[in-house]
Amino acid sequence: MQEEISGKYIDDSKQGEALMMPFAKPKNIPSKKLYLESYGCQMNFSDSEIVASIMSDNGYETTNIMEDADAIFINTCAIRDNAEQKIRGRLRNFTHLKKAKPSLTIGVLGCMAERLKKQLLEEEKMVDIVAGPDSYRDLPNLISEVYEGHKAVNVFLSREETYADISPVRLDSTGISAFITIMRGCDNMCSFCVVPFTRGRERSRDPKSIVAEAQDLFNRGYREVTLLGQNVDSYKYTSNKEDENDEVISFAKLLRLVANVSPLLRVRFSTSHPKDITEEVMIAMVETKNICNYIHLPVQSGNSRVLELMNRTYTREWYLDRINMMKSYVPDLAISSDIIAGFCTETEEEHQDTLSIMELVKYDYAYSFAYSERPGTPAAKKLLDDISPEVKLRRLNEIQELQRQHSLESNQKDIGKTFEVLVEGRSKKSADFNKGRNDQNKMIVFPKEDSQAGQYIYVKVLDCNNATLMGQIVPSPIINN
Ligand code: SAH
Ligand code: SF4
Ligand code: F3S
Repeated sequence: MQEEISGKYIDDSKQGEALMMPFAKPKNIPSKKLYLESYGCQMNFSDSEIVASIMSDNGYETTNIMEDADAIFINTCAIRDNAEQKIRGRLRNFTHLKKAKPSLTIGVLGCMAERLKKQLLEEEKMVDIVAGPDSYRDLPNLISEVYEGHKAVNVFLSREETYADISPVRLDSTGISAFITIMRGCDNMCSFCVVPFTRGRERSRDPKSIVAEAQDLFNRGYREVTLLGQNVDSYKYTSNKEDENDEVISFAKLLRLVANVSPLLRVRFSTSHPKDITEEVMIAMVETKNICNYIHLPVQSGNSRVLELMNRTYTREWYLDRINMMKSYVPDLAISSDIIAGFCTETEEEHQDTLSIMELVKYDYAYSFAYSERPGTPAAKKLLDDISPEVKLRRLNEIQELQRQHSLESNQKDIGKTFEVLVEGRSKKSADFNKGRNDQNKMIVFPKEDSQAGQYIYVKVLDCNNATLMGQIVPSPIINN
């Protein structure tokens, strides 16, 4: 049932699949074909939709048949070494295509492109273009350079680029739920993390363009948007920085503006940083029904010494206090997390603290990873990656096993409850079943009857496993009886 899980990160076995089902923008002019594959976080998938838009305006329509492509772009992730190794393997698969069609252009985009820059051209001979996350407007020029017989690189990181005016080509197949990137980059320096190096300084996008994008999606039948940023709670926009009287739009205000598009448009967001989550956001959630009761609040570790080494700027106690604050506003809030196993110098007791914070919070879902040293990060420069791969893996397994139990317990508590569900479409399991999510982002599968994608219906939960709720449609909106 893995495929039914709500995915912030696409699990390793699935990476690269989601964008193989693109929808081409209608075009009257004869066009070239672009095959686009994405890895990594939701922001990368959202960026690919911007790339598809830029390329479409320049005569390239997307295809899901690699062999038909005139250009192959692979939008990459650099967060852990295994993410990069996977991409290198994938690039090697493209070599034979290039041999068969020498005019084929291969571009590496995204975070790995930014991290390795020109070095990537030397190491992977089949690559023609290396383009970092802020250089996508330049892709048509980079392609022209390749036609002129050169390799092309643009890894310039901008302080302003937000692609605010670009209308993304939606590459998902549901037509119900879409990502909207509200900010780019990250100014935090978590010591383990490569993102500040691959995505540059934090900048917030003009709220007018965000609301217009949400409105346009709603008009086209979408019923859910997820506002994306590495640290959404530090979203802050002023149209005129020089003018003290100019209204500052905070994240909480932005949430309300987007939620105002329609009560029928669900609003989600990711990722929240424990140091920045505010009561204002929680109040917006309480007062606005369509802001969903779900927060992704990565803890990374349950031990304050490790958190300090990670430069997360909060302690175990601070984190738990934030959870209490959040739950005091929204008692049925669903919470998920990211956890790193085996960070530099982490002792067995400190690992136990991570397990014990999980026991205290009881996350509804958690993504966990073995620590992977990234060259150039503060941790790589200053700390020793001294936990053996075996120990990292064992600790990771313990975290994952505990989380499985907690996810199951959390789902079991929902048996007998009735939820409002936004129907997303057919369940992968069977054509007789539809699937959809409740407010807390839990996936529910149910016999479809006459329910349609995009509709809100009520489903009573009858059964579950650790990933999915199973239920049946009920006619009347009797919630949580
Ligand atoms: N901005 C988000 C997370 C972005 S990266 C945040 O602050 O939460 C997604 C997750 O990958 C992180 O939360 C962290 O758990 C994990 N991660 C990042 N760098 C890592 C590394 N070097 N090794 C293992 N996991 C890492
Ligand atoms: Fe990385 Fe920390 Fe920024 Fe998240 S907040 S992207 S973990 S540096
Ligand atoms: Fe996302 Fe990976 Fe880049 S997690 S920000 S695509 S390094």
